[in-house]
Amino acid sequence: MSTESKIRPVTTLRLTEMKQRGEKISMLTAYDYSTAKILDASGIDVILVGDSAANVMAGYETTLPITLDDMIYHAKSVTRAAKRALVVVDMPFGTYQSDPIQALHSAVRIMKESEADAVKMEGGEEILDSIKNLLSAGIPVMGHLGLTPQSIHKFGTYNIRAKEEAEAEKLIRDAHLLEEAGCFAIVLEKIPYALAKRVAEELTIPLIGIGAGPVDGQVLVVHDMLGINSDFSPRFLRRYADVGNIMTEAFKSYIEDVKSGDFPNENERY
Ligand code: KIV
Repeated sequence: MSTESKIRPVTTLRLTEMKQRGEKISMLTAYDYSTAKILDASGIDVILVGDSAANVMAGYETTLPITLDDMIYHAKSVTRAAKRALVVVDMPFGTYQSDPIQALHSAVRIMKESEADAVKMEGGEEILDSIKNLLSAGIPVMGHLGLTPQSIHKFGTYNIRAKEEAEAEKLIRDAHLLEEAGCFAIVLEKIPYALAKRVAEELTIPLIGIGAGPVDGQVLVVHDMLGINSDFSPRFLRRYADVGNIMTEAFKSYIEDVKSGDFPNENERY
C-alpha cells in the first residue's frame, strides 16, 4: 500500500468525534499551495482559506474588498496541496448576505471550482436562511460569531465583543441556531472565555476559538503566528517563529552577495 493511500482525510464528522473524545482541533489559515503543503504534512486538522487573505496577501485594511474570484483562486491553490486536512473556505463579504439564492450560487462556485470541503460564513440569525439553503444543498457550513471582521464598519473597532449581557445572550442564541440548522462547527472570535466556555459546553458541535480561550479547538492566521506580519500583536496571539526577521536577514545577505559579486560563485554556474 502506498503512503498516500494510507492517509485518512479529516472530515466534518471526525471533528465532532474529536470533540466527543476531548481531542483538541488544530486549524490555521493558508492561501497558497506551498504553505498548505507544509501545513498538511505537519498534521494540521483544518486549513482555513480565510478572507484574511485580503489583509495578509493583498494588503487591504479590512477583509471587505476580497472577491469571490480571489477566494476561489486561493482555495484552488490550497486544495491542490491538502491530502489530509479538511479545507474550509471563507465566503467573502457581499456574496451571501443579500439572500439565500445568492448565497447558494456563491457557495456552489466555491465548492465546484476549488473542490474545497466546506465554507465558513460570518453571522447568526440574520443569515440563517442562507446557511439553511447551503446545508439543504449538501454544502457543509462552519459558522463564525463574536468579532466578525466583515462587520467592522458596524462595530467600529476590533475590540473584544459580547462583553455586555445583551450581546452575549444573542451570541448564545445564535450558536444554538447554527447548531440546530446543521453547521458542523463554529469559530468564536475575540469574546470572553467564560462565554466561550459556556457555549462550548452547551453545544455538541466543536467551537474553534481565536482569542476566546481554550475551547474545542484553536485557529490563528498563519502570517501572524509565524511572525511574518509583525504589526499585529493582540494578547491572544502566540508567535511560534520569527519568520519576518529570518526573511529580512536572508534578503539582506542575498543583496549583499549580488552587489559584491560573491553570488553566483564558480559552483553556482554552468
Ligand atoms: O479570515 C480568517 O482568517 C478568519 C480567522 C481569523 C478565523 O476568519
